[in-house]
Formats: sequence, structure tokens, C-alpha cells
Amino acid sequence: MSRSAHPAGPRHADVWPEGHYSAPPADVNALDPKVWAQTVTRTDTGEVSVGGIGVATLAEEFGTPAYFVDETDFRARARAWRTAFGHDADVFYAGKAFLSRAIVRWLHEEGLNLDVCSGGELTTALSAGMPADRIAFHGNNKSTDEITQAIEAGVGRIVLDSFQEIVRVAHIAQSLGTRQRVQIRVTVGVEAHTHEFIATAHEDQKFGIALADGQAAEAVRRALTLDGLELIGIHSHIGSQIFDMAGFEVAARRVVALLAAVRDEHGVELPEIDLGGGLGIAYTSDDDPREPHEIAKALGEIVTRECEAAKLRTPRISVEPGRAIVGPTAFTLYEVGTIKPLEGLRTYVSVDGGMSDNIRTALYDAEYSVALVSRTSDAEPMLVRVVGKHCESGDIVVKDAFLPSDLAPGDLIAVPATGAYCRSMASNYNHALRPPVVAVRDGEARVIVRRETEEDLLRLDVG
Ligand code: LLP
Repeated sequence: MSRSAHPAGPRHADVWPEGHYSAPPADVNALDPKVWAQTVTRTDTGEVSVGGIGVATLAEEFGTPAYFVDETDFRARARAWRTAFGHDADVFYAGKAFLSRAIVRWLHEEGLNLDVCSGGELTTALSAGMPADRIAFHGNNKSTDEITQAIEAGVGRIVLDSFQEIVRVAHIAQSLGTRQRVQIRVTVGVEAHTHEFIATAHEDQKFGIALADGQAAEAVRRALTLDGLELIGIHSHIGSQIFDMAGFEVAARRVVALLAAVRDEHGVELPEIDLGGGLGIAYTSDDDPREPHEIAKALGEIVTRECEAAKLRTPRISVEPGRAIVGPTAFTLYEVGTIKPLEGLRTYVSVDGGMSDNIRTALYDAEYSVALVSRTSDAEPMLVRVVGKHCESGDIVVKDAFLPSDLAPGDLIAVPATGAYCRSMASNYNHALRPPVVAVRDGEARVIVRRETEEDLLRLDVG
């Protein structure tokens, strides 16, 4: 079911249907391992630690709000994807979820490739030593400069998103005296079971070329005639935060049918298909994500079966998980500032960040969990809404959750599963300073993206 983001404009307290939030948890101090990074644990004192370092120490050293990434967990997840897909497939981490040079190095070391979708992401990837041939370049409106930058760098593939781009990339490659490896992104007509703003494979949207009406077949026809292009495969991305494999199954079937049609028409078997990203993670205990090995097995079986039926050689598969790798590995640490109880309704807990460090709740009605992490508490759970410090009532971080009723200003609370699309979508709204990203591992913490300063703001404002 898709929902619209703002049923009542700026959020009103009464738009939620009765009972849409779950009952109070049995233990408000418990940390569900589904939503918290691998090394997050509550120590004997009741304080939460990550990578062996307590949150009070982290808050003191790095301030709040701040994102803490569990490096051990990130590497384990990246490795799990790599291992699950094996040597006959490629895993491209989707940098849009969160990208920094440390992340690029971890990915490189763990044997993953990288999907970038802007000149900025490409520059970050290259500057951290990701080999260009392991980078895929995406985007529905790449600029001429970006295309030139990507081809000159020698990226492994550019994913063509429109008829104009087929000609544009071919022309630029040819003028640079090269042939660029490309895939064509098709929209397979699947509407993934997710929020309408992030479902991308149905046809009424800006991305890709429709399989319908022979458009994708026409795109292949054109790409095959252009000297500047080496067409290596077909790409499909059906949406985000998807739990149900059925959408991928339909997508794979339709992409393989296109490969068969291309073989029949041109006598060419395209060697690769990319099934995109979009695999869901647990934001709350109610979510049940699939493990990478289950996903790899399911996708591999679908493609093999369809190719056997069409008498095609099985193409090399690639996938582009972003959220599923980085999402669960980080949490945002906030300090509680003010608390406003509304009798019989809920308690508003204001923290020192908000929609500038996590826009997903306001934008997609995203659900999050939250926990008191600087101590435990025996107090009764209370229904809270965690809100930020920005000047609008839609500035919500966690819509409905339970925290202990003795919560007080100065307590530290943390929101798990904020590794994906939080720092990468952070803004300077109200001239907020974007928080740092700190990597924690084996008792050591280091800043990988520093906190913005007022000087940074003034440097951009040239007066
Ligand atoms: N590949 C392509 C071509 C994509 O467009 C995306 C995401 C991915 C891979 C990675 O998807 P993931 O595995 O991370 O779901 N800001 C939204 C998500 C937008 C996703 C855009 N494309 C959110 O916060 O939910």
C-alpha cells in the first residue's frame, strides 16, 4: 500500500489512526539486535556502548547530535553480500545511501564495487582509491561534464537512462576516442510494495526506458549501432525498502525476456543484467528483512530458470544494495533538551537535531525506533514523539515510540538504523550544522566526516 507523505500538511497530532502504534514493550531497556548494529550492547552499568566505547564518552568527545557507524558491522554486512553473490556476480554498493572516503576504502577492501550517481560521488570514490573500472555511473540527467568526467576516469559502466543519453554518451565517448561500456536502464512495469515516492519501476516516473511498447527494444537497437558504446547489459531497479521478492522475480523475468528478444533480433547475447538495489532493513522490531544469502539464492534461481527456458546463457548478475549494507550499521545519538507531556496523548521529547539530520520521517512517514542509552530505567514506559529543534511541526524524528517516563533533559537517546539516507540527505535547514559521522571499532573511534562549523556556513555565504 502506498501512502502520501503529508496527509495534513505539517504534521498534526491527530492524523494517526487509533492504535496504529504498538503496545508498550515488555522491557523498555531492551535493544532488539534486529535494529541495532552488531557491536551495540548495554554494559553492566546500564549504559549502551558500540565497538566497546560507551555513549557518554562518545558524546563527550564528539558532541551530539552525531552518527556513529559500527565499522565491524559495516564490513560484516558488505562481506556477507559479497560472499552470498560469489564470483559469478558483482555487488555494487549504492553510494547515495551514504558515501565517504573511509566507506569507499572499506568497500574496496571487502571486494565490493560502487554505484555513484553524481560527479561528487564519483570524485569521492576516485579520491579514496576505488578503481574506476569497479564504478558504475547512474542518473537520469547526467550532465555533459559528468559524462566526460566518468568516461575520462574510465568507469566500468555508465547506466543509460534515456534516449537522449544514448546519443550523448556515445558522442562524448567517440570524441574522446574511446568506447564506453554501458547498460540500459529499463522500467519493467513493476510497482514495488513501498512508499510511492521511492517506487521506481512502474512506468509513470522519470527513470529509465519502458519495456512497454517496444521502447527498450528500440533503445537497444540504437545503442548497438553507435560506435562510442559497448552495450553490456540491461539494468532494472524497482524501488526501495522492499521485503517481498515477488517484484524482483517479475523484473528478472521481464529483463530476461528482453535479452531473448535482443538475441533473436540481433544475434547478440548481452552478457550482464543488473537487478538494482532496494532490499529492506528493519527500522523497528516489526520489520523482517531477508538475509543476503537468501536474496542471492532467490535472484540466482529466477535468472537461471528464465534463461534456461529462453535458451540463453545465464548472464552475469549484479545488484546495488545501499540501505541493506549501511542502514543498520549506524545510530544517531541525541541529547534530550526539553520534554512536554500532553495528558492522555503523548509526550514530546525534543532533541538537539531533527529533520536536518533525518528527513526520512517527514518525507516518507518513515518509522524508527529509539532507546534511552545513557542509563537504564525501571520507570513505566511512556508514549513519546521524538522531535527536533527546527521551526516546523513536521520536524519529527520518531513518530511513536516508548521511552521510560523518568526521561530527563540531559539524557542521551539514540535512534538506530540511521546509516542510510540520513547523513546523505542531511541539510542546513535553519542553518543547522550537519553532524559528524564517527566510525567505531575495537575500542577506537575516529571521525570520518567532521561536524560542520559556522565557519563552513560563512565560507559558502560570500556576502
Ligand atoms: N540502484 C539504483 C539505481 C537506485 O536508484 C538506488 C536507490 C539503489 C540502487 C539503492 O537502493 P537501496 O538498496 O539503498 O534501497 N531516499 C530514499 C531512498 C531513495 C533510493 C534511491 N535509489 C529513502 O530514504 O528511503
